[in-house]
Amino acid sequence: MTSSEIRKKYLKFFESRGHKIIPPAPLVPKDDPTTLFTTAGMQPLVPFLLGEEHPQGKRLVNIQPCLRTDDIDEVGDATHNTFLEMMGNWSLGDYWKKESLEWSLEFLTEELKLPKEKLAVTIFAGDNDAPRDDESMEIWKSLGIPEDRISPLGRKDNWWGPVGNSGPCGPDSEIFFWTGEGQPKDSPGENPLWVEVWNNVFMEYSKTSDGKYEPLSQQNVDTGMGLERITAVVQGKNNVYETDIFKFLYEAIEERTKTSEVKSLRVIADHTRAATFLIASGIEPGNVERGYVLRRLVRRAVRAAYRSGIERGFFTELAKIIINKFSAFYPELKENENKIYETLMEEEDRFQEPVNRIELYKQDLEIAEKEGVIKKIGTIPILKENKVASGLYVFENYQTYGTPPDLAQDVVEELGLTFDKEEFDRVTKEHQQKSRTAASGKFAGGLADHSDKVIKGHTATHLLHRALRDVLGEDVHQTGSNINPERVRFDFTYGKKMTEEEVNKVEEIVNQKISEDLQVEFRIMPLEEAKKTQAIGLFNEKYLDYVKVYFIGDYSKEFCGGPHVSNTSEIGRVKITKEESAGSGIRRIYATIE
Ligand code: SER
Repeated sequence: MTSSEIRKKYLKFFESRGHKIIPPAPLVPKDDPTTLFTTAGMQPLVPFLLGEEHPQGKRLVNIQPCLRTDDIDEVGDATHNTFLEMMGNWSLGDYWKKESLEWSLEFLTEELKLPKEKLAVTIFAGDNDAPRDDESMEIWKSLGIPEDRISPLGRKDNWWGPVGNSGPCGPDSEIFFWTGEGQPKDSPGENPLWVEVWNNVFMEYSKTSDGKYEPLSQQNVDTGMGLERITAVVQGKNNVYETDIFKFLYEAIEERTKTSEVKSLRVIADHTRAATFLIASGIEPGNVERGYVLRRLVRRAVRAAYRSGIERGFFTELAKIIINKFSAFYPELKENENKIYETLMEEEDRFQEPVNRIELYKQDLEIAEKEGVIKKIGTIPILKENKVASGLYVFENYQTYGTPPDLAQDVVEELGLTFDKEEFDRVTKEHQQKSRTAASGKFAGGLADHSDKVIKGHTATHLLHRALRDVLGEDVHQTGSNINPERVRFDFTYGKKMTEEEVNKVEEIVNQKISEDLQVEFRIMPLEEAKKTQAIGLFNEKYLDYVKVYFIGDYSKEFCGGPHVSNTSEIGRVKITKEESAGSGIRRIYATIE
């Protein structure tokens, strides 16, 4: 049975029991700055759970895309995902526990054909705020679930909601499936081979903002079953990545890696899928809130990819697989196809340097750990005593290279070390105070200058590359470049020393083009189409479906990730300061930008 069949069966089953199929709410709640993402199918239904009349009636069903970052560290195990499709059915003050549990069991055993002997359930054990859910206990028994497969558990396990600090919530009854070999044993609380597949929440309480539980005006049922997990169970897989939902994606990742470190591959699959859906929802990467979540997902995926030996530029290929797989249900993916490729490419480029830095940081930490060496940069140790990573070191790295502290912390935790967060927070605060008092605001200005100059340098290398071909012939190929705020270094294939005239000519062309105020633009296009433009500088192209091509007016066309200035007039004057050999058949040019 495929995941699409499961979706259809679920909707049909509840539709034939009087439920109206309602469209999913957006993944990113519109006009609601207080909530970052839709995290549960009930979230858009809160007003109706509180008693407002729903236009579609009292019985509803849908499949809701959700994003949950609470469990992000669990991603990489068999069943946790950040993005998931939640199948849910609701009773708004209509049917109650009996119908709800009965239908859940019927759907699982009759429609999905899961053997009843492999199911176990939990119920709320009761506490000071709400009594034990004996009613559910009795219903389960009457449905033929043996008592030793019904576990009463506490609030931590069997109470759901509210979303945020207040709102509808209640005791729940969860259904588990035995994924181990042979006869089921133990109970869900004891053995992780029992995988939770469905949650029936009996929302009859509202938590007030001062922490009290008050009865709601109506008794609601809110159920949720993650499509990914139930598909794994139905398809007899012990993890979601082997289901048809992830299969193509996972296999594409697996094919390209040099490691069999499963957790990283799963992280790439999960996070890329989540990021693709977020971009299609209109989120752009940024440093706060929703944009930051997106950025963090992409960064974590990029880092896991590099760690697994995957080369740059792979994410568009993955996004394509995701778009093809899910567009039938989520047309916004196809509609935003180019935007998705473009955003993933830009984010990957943007984090190239920090990601490399993080890998270095990880290696340094590992060495420091293994050899007991307290490695230092300047006077700052990487590792302090007792397996504690230095907060000051992470801060310095951030200041100097922009290495994201959250990634550094991830690395520290990955290695089983502790991060001295207190030290990090303290130095960050001290620094902020210093910057505020420094009238010049030197730090921020310095950083901005730095990146501006480097960006200008990038665009200048495209002009240089093209001009060198104009003067020396089309056989000239770039073999490397290195750009810093002081100068541009550019290496290319050419068999002999350039004459002074040739150097002057190249410089003249570059400056001529700069003075023509040429627009710098990029387009993401299918590889085949891009090749037809005869853009230069494409390496490793065979795996890419889509590539990014930068156009400088109609003078230069070059494959590149960017970023670049938007008009050549921003560059200023380029001066070639040196031309020398950089090995056999390779010449090197140094140039400054004034
Ligand atoms: N709100 C519950 C959950 O998300 C059931 O839908 O698990």
